[in-house]
Amino acid sequence: MSRPQEAWTSNLGVIFAVAGSAVGLGNFLRFPGLAAQYGGGAFMIAYFVSLLVIGVPVCWAEWTVGRHGGHHGYHSSPGIFHALLRRRWAKYFGSIGFLIPMLVCMYYVYVEAWCLGYAVNAISGRLSVPGMHYGEFFATYTGANVDGVAVKFGLGDVGIFVVIVLLLNLYLLYRGLSKGIELACRVGMPLLVGLGLILLVRVLTLGTPDPARPGQNVLTALGFMWNPGDSVLASLRNPQLWLAAAGQVFFSLSIGLGVIITYASYLRKTDDVTLSGLTAVSANEFCEVALGGMITVPAAFIFLGAAGVAGQGTFALGFIVLPEVFAHMPAGVLFASAFFVLLFLAAVTSSLSILQPVIAFLEEAFAMRRAVSVSWLALVMILGTGFVWYFSKDLKALDTIDFWIGNVGVFLQGTVIILLFGWVIGIEKSWREMHRGAALRVPGFFRIVMRYITPLYLITIFTLFLLDKVV
Ligand code: PFF
Repeated sequence: MSRPQEAWTSNLGVIFAVAGSAVGLGNFLRFPGLAAQYGGGAFMIAYFVSLLVIGVPVCWAEWTVGRHGGHHGYHSSPGIFHALLRRRWAKYFGSIGFLIPMLVCMYYVYVEAWCLGYAVNAISGRLSVPGMHYGEFFATYTGANVDGVAVKFGLGDVGIFVVIVLLLNLYLLYRGLSKGIELACRVGMPLLVGLGLILLVRVLTLGTPDPARPGQNVLTALGFMWNPGDSVLASLRNPQLWLAAAGQVFFSLSIGLGVIITYASYLRKTDDVTLSGLTAVSANEFCEVALGGMITVPAAFIFLGAAGVAGQGTFALGFIVLPEVFAHMPAGVLFASAFFVLLFLAAVTSSLSILQPVIAFLEEAFAMRRAVSVSWLALVMILGTGFVWYFSKDLKALDTIDFWIGNVGVFLQGTVIILLFGWVIGIEKSWREMHRGAALRVPGFFRIVMRYITPLYLITIFTLFLLDKVV
């Protein structure tokens, strides 16, 4: 093939790209919402266990497997599976790694468009409409309460932003790995962290904004977010908590989705994977726990109290509760703008990572040139996003896809990868492969974790899910 080999410009480039994929709406909306729902402290115990037993091991396995596939000239999940297993059926097995991203991209770009739409509305001071509740605004704006298509509203209905977001993603992908994805992440990520820090300082210095409600201050807000509730032990006995924590680790680190293996396949044979993988995980955890965990829910609690925050789902928290919170906050327009720009940046760097596996598959399976693969992707996205948007009433289509991917798809893919690493290829060989060019020697006990504990843990969690669904 005459197409020049794509590659990251440096190890730092791939770390930015993987961290860009990992840091997304999950960090700023999904995580704080779940943590608050499951009693903060208790959730964090389950979350850190999942991070150590699933997150870090699966991440290392995906980096290793991906780099190995890339070394054999493959970048799509089916190709990488074929390179590893050298069996006819392997590529069918690997197709889950491009089917999941294809399904996710159908709704992720739609939500990304909300973020951009809200950012533009926030900057122009049009996030609140007199006489209209924020929930009503959200439903009308996104088309979630209208049969069929969205309606025109405010600055323009979200449709304009769906088109802009689609074009932006396609353009960046067309520019290629280093000039598109890597550049977007190198610029977007520091900006995102900067905005996150500004918002963090703002929230932590809010004090007691309303003297009439002395119980709603920074300290009680952090308590609401992080105190383990009535009893840690009782909370920890709830299987739902463990399921939610494991699901969040998958979603947040972008593992089990076919994303990391594709990104890692563009590494050189001796590029480090152990330290880079861990650095990307750490960057994600900083954004998730220190920024996401300290901004969204605490800010909402300070202004709206427990009743205004409890039981809010991911989208309601971000697009209904927070606009109201910013309306109460001094210089709220400024902070609302910062927040929604941050969400948009987080979403773009993530959606690029969902789309690249699809591009890799099209180019590999059909030997397409970049312009052709991007055009096909455009078609898939127009149909997919159109479908999700059309069935956006009560966000049904979006919720259904998200539920099956988040609860079944990622577990399946994560389990397959870790079994491949520890059993099919064999732990000794995989361990050697993982340490090729490694800047960090992984402690030996992770050998046991990756071979026995992670698969067992994954199977247990998945069984809990099935029991919960069936019984
Ligand atoms: N990790 C992203 C987040 O936390 O928001 C979400 C995500 C990225 C999901 C990439 C799926 C994906 F393929």
